[in-house]
Amino acid sequence: MENSKPTLRLSRRSRSSQKNALRTLVVDIGGTGIKAELLDERGRPLTNRARIPTPKRATPHQVIAIIRKLAMGLGEFDRVSVGFPGVTKNGVIYTAPNLGKGWNNFKLKEKLRRVFKRPVRVANDADIQGLGSISGRGIELVITLGTGVGSAVFINGTRLHLELGHHPFHKGKTYEDELGYPTLLKKGKKWWNKRLREAIEDLKIAFNYDRLLLGGGNTKYIRFEPPGDVKIVSNEEGLLGGIKLWQDVDPTPAPGPGAGKLRSVKRPT
Ligand code: BGC
Repeated sequence: MENSKPTLRLSRRSRSSQKNALRTLVVDIGGTGIKAELLDERGRPLTNRARIPTPKRATPHQVIAIIRKLAMGLGEFDRVSVGFPGVTKNGVIYTAPNLGKGWNNFKLKEKLRRVFKRPVRVANDADIQGLGSISGRGIELVITLGTGVGSAVFINGTRLHLELGHHPFHKGKTYEDELGYPTLLKKGKKWWNKRLREAIEDLKIAFNYDRLLLGGGNTKYIRFEPPGDVKIVSNEEGLLGGIKLWQDVDPTPAPGPGAGKLRSVKRPT
């Protein structure tokens, strides 16, 4: 529980009447770092990107304290977009494999709405990367390579969140086991690049995508020329997804019976 009142200087009057004045706080919660930046209505940065390392096994309380701290350093904003590294539906978190305990059924959207007194939208981090990077035509598969492996597929711009990262890929190991950051550190770039090439081939067969968009911080370690239908997308495009999220229809249905029992992966939250 937060025990102190937010001390942010937030503007009282609506700024939306001014051209491009709507300021969005875009937050990306990652397994190793929590990043935040203010963007205007067209997705142009209004501030630098601020980053605070994610504590090991971060709890909701720790993550919210960091988001507040980042926000206070950036200035005023009108709404908040959050990319979360786990399964999220209607602003409620169900899994957080690379964070700590306490996330299952955590109402992140509601909590942040109370902290900031601003409208909040929350979506999976790979979905947000996709929203900012897709063309909106055909089958576009998004894979993010960070601490974990994120995934989403867009069909003519309509998104479906995937958890391919936890799907078996090679000798009983999952995509995340083989392509996540801990393995990259352990096995080295050459090994990781070989596995990534294999993964791209497998994913093409499974999805017949028109485009594969590869995002996430570890794309900087890619050492081969990807096939023509594969595009490496930038973090900036990922941030733009935080703006697109406000035009997107959340495809997740209202949680039905059993929704809170979504199976978590690796570590129960
Ligand atoms: C999570 C995904 C997330 C990905 C990247 C995986 O471990 O299960 O939901 O998108 O990491 O953060």
